[in-house]
Amino acid sequence: MTDKLIIFDTTLRDGEQSPGASMTKDEKLRIARLLERLKVDVIEAGFAASSNGDFECIRSIAGAVKDSTICSLSRANDRDIARSAEALADANSARIHVFLATSPLHMEKKLRMTPDQVFDQAVSSIRFARNLCGDIEFSAEDGYRSDPDFLCRVFEAVIKEGATTINVPDTVGYAIPELYGEFIKNLRERIPNSDKAIWSVHCHNDLGMAVANSLAGVKIGGARQVECTINGLGERAGNCSLEEVVMAIKTRKDYFGLDVNIDTQHIVAASRMVSQTTGFVVQPNKAVVGANAFAHASGIHQDGVLKARDTYEIMRAEDVGWAANKIVLGKLSGRNAFKQRLQELGVEMESEGEINAAFTRFKELADRKSDIFDEDILALVSDEHASS
Ligand code: KIV
Ligand code: ZN
Repeated sequence: MTDKLIIFDTTLRDGEQSPGASMTKDEKLRIARLLERLKVDVIEAGFAASSNGDFECIRSIAGAVKDSTICSLSRANDRDIARSAEALADANSARIHVFLATSPLHMEKKLRMTPDQVFDQAVSSIRFARNLCGDIEFSAEDGYRSDPDFLCRVFEAVIKEGATTINVPDTVGYAIPELYGEFIKNLRERIPNSDKAIWSVHCHNDLGMAVANSLAGVKIGGARQVECTINGLGERAGNCSLEEVVMAIKTRKDYFGLDVNIDTQHIVAASRMVSQTTGFVVQPNKAVVGANAFAHASGIHQDGVLKARDTYEIMRAEDVGWAANKIVLGKLSGRNAFKQRLQELGVEMESEGEINAAFTRFKELADRKSDIFDEDILALVSDEHASS
């Protein structure tokens, strides 16, 4: 088993399935180039058979982005798969991603197919895809709500046909971390040829557990690919967020023992680009990329961080592309943070008494005004000088 975790970004495919998040070809190309700079291993550029527009997006990304594998989604039929292969023709490294639902609910109500028919279609589609591309992913849609015996049968057969990645999606975000991890572990243990494929997780965030479930799929289940999106964009409540899963793997390498290729310095830029392109605002308290993710407001925290950043920071703002962490001055701030800001603003005070007086005025102001800007502090200090 490799100790590298493959990062598969689906911002341009599953992310675009967010209602209101559709992107133009130029926008997708710009994002794909940034994902390449981020050193994403696999970029799912779209679903070639879904529209001519999506086909063209994949084609232009495959022609322009050379350092990441470019992937196109396909239903499990020859027409979709051939269309993906055509769109990917110029890629340096291409992957065809074939999906077919395997849960009783989806097979009976949506596909109106028997399990045997689904089995046969899965096998024949992978046989067809394998003749067009050496890198084939098979996803059992609604995999987590599928019967494990049936999944074992399907996965064993598609691996025999040449599928190189096996994905177990939690399509509706129903999983619980430990149970999802055990589910994948159990499949891998039962399937005789399971080590011939890389196992992958694809989790939706309907119960807010997409990142936790993905990490459990990795740690407990032994998955070595995580499917994710920038800012957790995606169908309904979204997908596992790339920035969170990557920083969890990096920050807790002591626990996961895995490496990722991602150049984390570009994370904030990618988050901003996706947010600006889609119009989906990132909440301020969003982990890693929210405006407050590295901001300290309380006096005790500010004092701690000014003495030693590790007191309240488990990762560095600069490592994910922020210019620096932030000490936010307000009514909860302490004297130490205030004094530090005066120094940064080039204000020299002659005595501790003068600083104390300015600090008292600052606290009075902060009780009346929620946002204190540097200009407020400068005004307050010049008043202080004027009145002394
Ligand atoms: O959520 C899902 O099951 C998917 C598949 C197509 C992988 O997006
Ligand atoms: Zn999905």
